[in-house]
Amino acid sequence: MSANSVHIRPAVAADLNELFHLEQLCFDAESFNRRQLRYLAHRANGLFWILTDEGRIAAFIILLERKNTEGLRVYSLAVSPAFRGRSYAQQMIQQALVLAQERAKRFLYLEVSEHNGAAIQLYRKLGFMETGRRKAYYKDGSAALLMRLFID
Ligand SMILES: CC(C)(COP(=O)(O)OP(=O)(O)OC[C@H]1O[C@@H](n2cnc3c(N)ncnc32)[C@H](O)[C@@H]1OP(=O)(O)O)[C@@H](O)C(=O)NCCC(=O)NCCS
Repeated sequence: MSANSVHIRPAVAADLNELFHLEQLCFDAESFNRRQLRYLAHRANGLFWILTDEGRIAAFIILLERKNTEGLRVYSLAVSPAFRGRSYAQQMIQQALVLAQERAKRFLYLEVSEHNGAAIQLYRKLGFMETGRRKAYYKDGSAALLMRLFID
């Protein structure tokens, strides 16, 4: 497959159906409904990005910016099961770093389930550090690890 078939771009309204299906494939109990996704696409104005492979949405990242804060929050990140292991999640975090730099943010931050080994590995590999832990954060009762990646 040619590398030219991979593109990273902001999500648009026409992507929402495909995004909804991808979301459901990737997150069960914690998945967003269509309304929430539409709201996020609107609220994350300019900070909801997708990666397409041969025109199909293979990954997305949703970032949230709060005014007067030094960090940019990685609110959601997912890669379609059929497209995992191709560094797409890493590329989405690289994109998040670019967006954070453009906004003069000092770090990216996120929460991840203590049971999500793949995601924890990913964040550690990219240099995220654990900054805390929130007990019983998810619906299944698992704790969240709070992680942060400083931008040089
Ligand atoms: C976690 C997730 C985003 C990783 O996506 P991906 O595109 O397959 O990840 P990448 O190919 O970019 O992997 C980068 C690194 O992450 C780590 N990693 C990714 N998947 C892993 C797995 N299944 N087991 C262990 N480490 C893993 C590895 O360190 C990997 O580097 P390597 O390839 O040199 O070993 C994907 O599995 C996913 O969407 N999971 C469901 C949704 C989710 O959990 N999102 C995160 C919520 S916080």
